[in-house]
Amino acid sequence: MTNTIYFGDNLPILQSLPDESVDLIYIDPPFNTGKTQARTQIRTQRSENGDRTGFGGQRYETLKLGTRGYLDIFDDYLSFLEPRLEEARRLLKAHGSLYFHIDYREVHYCKILLDGIFGRDSFLNEIIWAYDYGGKSKTRWPAKHDNILFYAKDPGNYIFNSEAIDREPYMAPGLVGPEKAKRGKLPTDTWWHTIVGTNSKERTGYPTQKPLGVINRIIQASSLPGQVVMDFFAGSGTVGESCINLDREFILVDNNRESLEAMARRFTGVKNIEWVNFDPKQYQDKNKEFRVKSKENQQADFDYLVSLSKYLRSEYEEESGLWEESPFDWMVELSPPRKGALGKRILTTWCKVKGLFVDTSSENGVDIIINGHPCAIKFSFLWSEGFYKFQQIRDQEYEYVICLGLSPNSAHCWVLQKDHVMQNSTSQHGGSHGSDTNWFSVDPNNPEEWLSSCGGTLEAAYKILSSLEHK
Ligand SMILES: C[S@@+](CC[C@H](N)C(=O)[O-])C[C@H]1O[C@@H](n2cnc3c(N)ncnc32)[C@H](O)[C@@H]1O
Repeated sequence: MTNTIYFGDNLPILQSLPDESVDLIYIDPPFNTGKTQARTQIRTQRSENGDRTGFGGQRYETLKLGTRGYLDIFDDYLSFLEPRLEEARRLLKAHGSLYFHIDYREVHYCKILLDGIFGRDSFLNEIIWAYDYGGKSKTRWPAKHDNILFYAKDPGNYIFNSEAIDREPYMAPGLVGPEKAKRGKLPTDTWWHTIVGTNSKERTGYPTQKPLGVINRIIQASSLPGQVVMDFFAGSGTVGESCINLDREFILVDNNRESLEAMARRFTGVKNIEWVNFDPKQYQDKNKEFRVKSKENQQADFDYLVSLSKYLRSEYEEESGLWEESPFDWMVELSPPRKGALGKRILTTWCKVKGLFVDTSSENGVDIIINGHPCAIKFSFLWSEGFYKFQQIRDQEYEYVICLGLSPNSAHCWVLQKDHVMQNSTSQHGGSHGSDTNWFSVDPNNPEEWLSSCGGTLEAAYKILSSLEHK
């Protein structure tokens, strides 16, 4: 497919395109669409001191009745947007999504409109694009951000390639270790990015041009290479440039001749563009070449495999999605030994913070000493079947086993005397060379009778630990 750039009002152009033909739409509509200025209503009345002379030489003064209400003005704007957004939804493929870029003053009205068209469940994020330039108010917090509303056509099935997203530096790299600090972190819904500055290489001269960094991130996250991205308020064509660099197809629309001229200059040398209703030649310098950003292109095939595998993941993975919203989600991915070590560290630190007397030990099978009592620590995440499994319990030199369980949004803890746990857990053969170990599982909502006086909640476990006599 070739890329297409249309010159004209976007509504009839959108109406002429087939259903479900676009994978991703990004738009950045202007607020001043012509019909939306404040209209001040006036009335004149007779007055000795009036500033006007009227019928029969009478003096009149002009009274301002007030500026037309803000809600009316937004009504005009929203009725301009509404049919275009309805078309946008129709054009999106089933897995498609929309990013709607708007000013902080209008975002609330637009959110209500978009919720009505896409459905409230389809709203996924409000991205805050924060920048810092220009003058700053001294009378209120200087407003230095735009809002980008992100909707999926189907909130149960949409493209989001977290692996392909450019990462950003940690705010406190010293806290995460050198490897993680080098890799950076995934962005949140607040993005710091400079505007297109006067001396920026990206600058096209079109006044409302948005930075490639912001648009690239959206396109990388919410489309795959080869897919179709649309911007029907295209301006300088930032979405087009991003698509060329990231190997996507694009459809751009704008009704302003200057925008088309800016895009003609910007895409000089790009062969596979169909220009509809506009001839770009006179704005293009034959000697100029469009330079694809090579770094992105070298990566394109690899990124494609990564993002495709991410996209297909949900079809192949038997994951319940249990941990998706959990603050512990990052821990679930760790290898079992690292999980175990982390669990021990969490429990040890918690005991110290709670004021228990904690010491270390090199004794076989002893992880910590609490109030002088040697303890082993066992750790488990909640399994998808809804239980914890505490394993590798051996008859060693400790008195108590402390079992810490983490669920997506809660935590449990049992404190068990060694004999008690050895009697009630299941033995597992360690093979011809290994030693036998025990394990037990527990449903935190319905623990077995033998666990009833051994804690369960963090509070109950703490009570047991703090009541251990000091030795
Ligand atoms: C804020 S600018 C977009 C800037 C763009 N994101 C960029 O990076 O350059 C909005 C654009 O929408 C265009 N526009 C406004 N009303 C339109 C309409 N009815 N049909 C098509 N384009 C329209 C304007 O001409 C303007 O170029």
